[in-house]
Amino acid sequence: MDKTLLIIKPDAVKKNLIGEILKRVVGAGFKIIGMKMLWLNKEQGGKFYEIHRGKDFYDWLVDFISSGPIVVACLSAADAPAKLRGVVGATDPKKAAPDTIRNLYGTSVGENVVHASAPDENPQREIDFFFEAAELHNY
Ligand code: RTP
Ligand code: MG
Repeated sequence: MDKTLLIIKPDAVKKNLIGEILKRVVGAGFKIIGMKMLWLNKEQGGKFYEIHRGKDFYDWLVDFISSGPIVVACLSAADAPAKLRGVVGATDPKKAAPDTIRNLYGTSVGENVVHASAPDENPQREIDFFFEAAELHNY
């Protein structure tokens, strides 16, 4: 089984969508092997998103991800990173396929309710950013 990282972003937490989103993820066949709620400060948000440093949306993105609590979940499934991107949909909710999480709940290209590790951007680095080995459970 492969692992990937899901973040339920502050816009979704504020809209009480944690349950809806987790239901869709589990319904798609993922197992939640680690999960926690936390509130990043700007330094932590900037570090997590450092791959985007220098892009025009970077400062906005760091403010956004640290604007409220988030839920981070480590998910397990066959081909987990690519599979989760399919369930989440395209970055812009208007372009996301019907019934994807962003299509259903996203409001704009920035406020798009979830983050899912990109298969080509080192999902393990993102999992390690939030979870110690002892916080991930084999069951
Ligand atoms: P994510 O990393 O959050 O799963 O999203 P993604 O791969 O689909 O999109 P990415 O290009 O990695 O961008 C990261 C996040 O930055 C915000 N964004 N805003 N205003 C804009 O043009 C813009 N572009 C990206 C979104 O919150 C996006 O998820
Ligand atoms: Mg990305």
